[in-house]
Amino acid sequence: MSSEIALGIEKIRGTIESALKDGATLGSLNDCRIAVFGKKGAMTGLQKMLGKLSPQERPEAGKIINGAKDEFQSKLDEAIEKLERQKLTEMELRDRVDVTQPARGRACGGAHPVVQVTMDVLEVLEGLGFVTVTGPEIETDFFNFEALNIPPHHPARDMQDTFYFGDGRLLRTHTSGMEIHAMLDMGAPLRVACPGRVYRRDNDPTHSPMFHQVEGLVVDKNISVGDLKGCLEAMIHGVFGRKLKARYRASYFPFTEPSMEVDIECFKCGGSDCRCQICKGTGWLEIGGMGMCHPNVLRYGGIDPDVYNGFAWGMGLDRIAMLKYGLTDLRALFDGDVSYLLSGRHE
Ligand code: DAH
Repeated sequence: MSSEIALGIEKIRGTIESALKDGATLGSLNDCRIAVFGKKGAMTGLQKMLGKLSPQERPEAGKIINGAKDEFQSKLDEAIEKLERQKLTEMELRDRVDVTQPARGRACGGAHPVVQVTMDVLEVLEGLGFVTVTGPEIETDFFNFEALNIPPHHPARDMQDTFYFGDGRLLRTHTSGMEIHAMLDMGAPLRVACPGRVYRRDNDPTHSPMFHQVEGLVVDKNISVGDLKGCLEAMIHGVFGRKLKARYRASYFPFTEPSMEVDIECFKCGGSDCRCQICKGTGWLEIGGMGMCHPNVLRYGGIDPDVYNGFAWGMGLDRIAMLKYGLTDLRALFDGDVSYLLSGRHE
């Protein structure tokens, strides 16, 4: 029986020695530990054999088994500890933080081009005594159309252009409804600027279903087209940083009479370059509509058109941002690509 134990011990020694050879991993050593010392392991099997020995043989055999067990256990523990230490050192080297490295710094944030242009416009207008007001993007037919003298069958009311909610409410198609809110809330005389989002069923490189306008409204006594032009040109100067020529073309809007559209001189080529991407070589860029307030609109706003008159304009802020920053696709403004917006590529 004792020779059987001696044989068993030698077998285990062989197992341990081959497990400790080069290429041992924590996983393989652990497997070996289980194979030797686990519940069904070889060492545990030898210990069980002790019970079958005679009382005379048992103390000697027990000593041998325990001696071998201690020896094997410490060999395995030592190898495992060595590998663990090695692993830790590798991890430390790999994840080492060089505290002497300079900090990477943070990219500086900047205003979105549309926000920047809006702030520029409002700054000029506030300097001219305008008050900035904002209003609801969900409007009623009354404020968006009816009170602006837009007749029931006007194409602007078409389902093709307007997002309707089906309960009489709609997403405002322009900021002009704010003229009525302002007149009803503030009365005459008044000077207001109303920036905000507007919505139309449009989506192509120069149109987005959501875009931004700024409405301007002045109501007072003896207001003239000259006042309108002076105001507008001051605004253009403020936004583009220099005086640009403006051209007024006769137009039609139900809420103004007379009505005009305004073009500004192409600040890039001034009309001299027929390949200019921005004005397509025409030398002019359209920026908005305007006119003298229609008497019906003043009446809807609770103002007596026999005492007061006024002017109003509506300008596309995204369009102005595109012109100012030379963008060819309006949708880039709304894609939310921060690296593009902060890169200065729009400058
Ligand atoms: N609301 C018009 C539009 O969105 C723009 C406009 C034209 C506004 C003439 C005005 C105006 O106040 O007088 O196309």
